[in-house]
Amino acid sequence: MTTILYLSLCTALAAAQSTFDPARPPAIPLAVRSPYLSTWQPAGGSGSNGGYLAGQWPTFWNGEITGWTGLVRVDNTTYTWMGNPDPLPEVADQTSFSYTSTRSIFDFDVGGVVSLKVEFLSPISPDDLVRQSASVSYMSVDVSSKDGQEHDIQIYTDVSAEWASGDRRQLVEWSYDTVGDDSEVEYHRFARQSQAAFSEWNDQAEWGNWYYATSARDGLTHRSGADIDVRKQFTDTGALDNSADSNYRAINDRWPVFGYSVDLGRVGSSEVTSLFTMFLAQEESHQFNTGSGLRGVPSLWRGQHSDKARALSFFHDDYQNVHDKSVELDEKVSNDAMQVGGQDYVTVVSLAARQAWGATQLAGTEETPYIFMKEISSNGNMNTVDVIFPASPLLMYFNPAWLKYLLDPVYIVVENGLWSKDSAIHDIGFHYPNATGHANEQTQEMPVEESGNMLILALAYAQKSGDTAFLSQHYDSLRQWAAYLVGNTLIPASQQSTDDFAGALENQTNLALKGIIAIQAMSGIANLTDHADDAANFSSTATDYIARWQELGINSAASPPHTTLSYGNPDSHGLLYNLYADSLVQTDLVPRDVYEMQSAFYPTIAEAFGVPLDTRHGWAKNDWEMWAAAVAGEQTRGEMVGRLAKWIDETSTNRPATDLYEASTGGFAVGPPNFRARPVVGGWFALLALESVGIPA
Ligand SMILES: *[C@@H]1O[C@H](CO)[C@@H](O)[C@H](O)[C@H]1NC(C)=O
Ligand SMILES: *[C@@H]1O[C@H](CO)[C@@H](O)[C@H](O)[C@H]1NC(C)=O
Ligand SMILES: *[C@@H]1O[C@H](CO)[C@@H](O)[C@H](O)[C@H]1NC(C)=O
Ligand SMILES: *[C@@H]1O[C@H](CO)[C@@H](O)[C@H](O)[C@H]1NC(C)=O
Ligand SMILES: *[C@@H]1O[C@H](CO)[C@@H](O)[C@H](O)[C@H]1NC(C)=O
Repeated sequence: MTTILYLSLCTALAAAQSTFDPARPPAIPLAVRSPYLSTWQPAGGSGSNGGYLAGQWPTFWNGEITGWTGLVRVDNTTYTWMGNPDPLPEVADQTSFSYTSTRSIFDFDVGGVVSLKVEFLSPISPDDLVRQSASVSYMSVDVSSKDGQEHDIQIYTDVSAEWASGDRRQLVEWSYDTVGDDSEVEYHRFARQSQAAFSEWNDQAEWGNWYYATSARDGLTHRSGADIDVRKQFTDTGALDNSADSNYRAINDRWPVFGYSVDLGRVGSSEVTSLFTMFLAQEESHQFNTGSGLRGVPSLWRGQHSDKARALSFFHDDYQNVHDKSVELDEKVSNDAMQVGGQDYVTVVSLAARQAWGATQLAGTEETPYIFMKEISSNGNMNTVDVIFPASPLLMYFNPAWLKYLLDPVYIVVENGLWSKDSAIHDIGFHYPNATGHANEQTQEMPVEESGNMLILALAYAQKSGDTAFLSQHYDSLRQWAAYLVGNTLIPASQQSTDDFAGALENQTNLALKGIIAIQAMSGIANLTDHADDAANFSSTATDYIARWQELGINSAASPPHTTLSYGNPDSHGLLYNLYADSLVQTDLVPRDVYEMQSAFYPTIAEAFGVPLDTRHGWAKNDWEMWAAAVAGEQTRGEMVGRLAKWIDETSTNRPATDLYEASTGGFAVGPPNFRARPVVGGWFALLALESVGIPA
């Protein structure tokens, strides 16, 4: 019933109705590879044409327009399939949308006579440093006749200079050229005229060159110029005049766009494909203080492709290869997810993949790679330990060896004089892309949280990769954090946990549990590195603490019984998501009946879109919810995954998925800033990262 009502509502709002498979997400990833190549189509919410590629503009993750236009001319009549150009030619009927882990696919019926399919591919290459390091995304456009007749077809696309700076008053410059041994790749290049290396404006990158490329072919024409002029020329004539606007100017001064037209001639029932490649090339992508001052870090792909245009032609020509691999990866994720969590779980993880990877970027060299992560939308911190932690199931699933590339920068900072407290650091720099460290110790304090996280992550990585040398190398740091926890985790002082938006609190039950599991993890680390005394010592402490924790943190008189949010507050409760760590690193410290108790409790407090994070607010935190689901019983787990899948399909938010929302309404959490596009959705892979999902046997 609801479905029918919903579809008829859509019909009223849009020219035609589209199906959404497996769901209509809050925002559709179009080109999402890194913190600075992050363009989406707002989709959630009622009204606003949600989920349609034409009739509204694609945006950067923060909602600012990144102009991207698609038109098609069929027998002299022009239709719009992407964007919201003014004037807006007739909108092609979008008939379906679907997404996989790496692709967003739109189908159109153009005038009842032509089929047009647009596929946006943002690859994930978790075993290929060079490919994963490049901010490259692809759009392929297929057209064919659907009425048995041949039709005269030209397609058009442009991007605006809005991609090149968050400050629309900035001057941009541009050029047109070809590259490749036979000049087989043509490209528009555009960039901020005065480059501001490592700077952001409104979260967009203020440096680097943007490339919009396509294959040289008969019928290809191009033009740079004012948006209305370039588009009008196509609409009027079905071609561009290959001219260049030499009047470099501000982004918002008669909006320069960089357009292509491809005249496909007479098209019959066989599909004809056109490919467009988007590439952000920065010679240096980050700054990193490894102990002797802040220095630029090269983009990793430059090791193999020192010339930017050559790199572009490599990545453009790489499309078929990377497309085939992406289809394989999509199928693997989908099959694996189906097996552990059914279709709802496929809906969930397939949406998380590009968002989570898209908050990271590989840099450095193939010999010494680093993954840098941006705490998008919350505060821009770099490699935040309590953001890596919730996101870590993503890496554990795709390639545990790469968790090291994310953690290495943290160890470099803390072991080279840029942090000297006994407890672990919160982040390696206040603002991406500058990993300055915190020699003055001035950053957010989450001592139990981060110390616990570093220990659990280290053991998880070593167990999965077999790299025990990593543990030996960092043994002193790890042991120091464990000793801190021995003194500070059983009765945690007032402090923030990772859920800092809810404020500081004393005696947090779930935080204490993390620290205790981490002490046991230290015992495992000691064991793997031949420190028998430490192994025995930390294990006996953890065993003692977990018994006392059960007395302090469980309300066993309640019906049903549950852990509390904090000691001594019997009516309080919260998601006990740190329990997941006990299963992840197989510390097997927590008795099975605690798992069972929580699993039985969650359904009794669930709201329409999730189990509230804790009793302070009605907020759901979906990364932690998937952590809790992964170690719950089958029934509870299915319900939790199901509510997140429902949220994805029905939320009124229309930005890249938020991880914090009202559990009862699915809207943005009232109070905190609107989190979105954050890498913590990597935590949605929690079920897939475990050896064995559910309550331990
Ligand atoms: C499209 O316009 C061209 C040029 O005006 C004309 O020659 C052609 O016949 C038109 N095609 C159709 C299908 O109307
Ligand atoms: C990074 O540091 C440079 C100075 O080295 C500064 O110009 C730039 O604005 C900083 N970037 C951010 C995003 O804070
Ligand atoms: C924290 O828990 C300990 C142990 O139960 C207790 O002694 C202490 O008073 C608690 N602190 C607060 C603020 O409740
Ligand atoms: C590590 O654990 C195994 C299994 O319990 C045990 O046999 C071994 O002696 C331990 N090694 C050290 C160094 O603690
Ligand atoms: C365990 O380690 C702590 C801190 O280093 C030490 O004080 C204690 O004596 C050790 N206990 C055992 C049983 O070795």
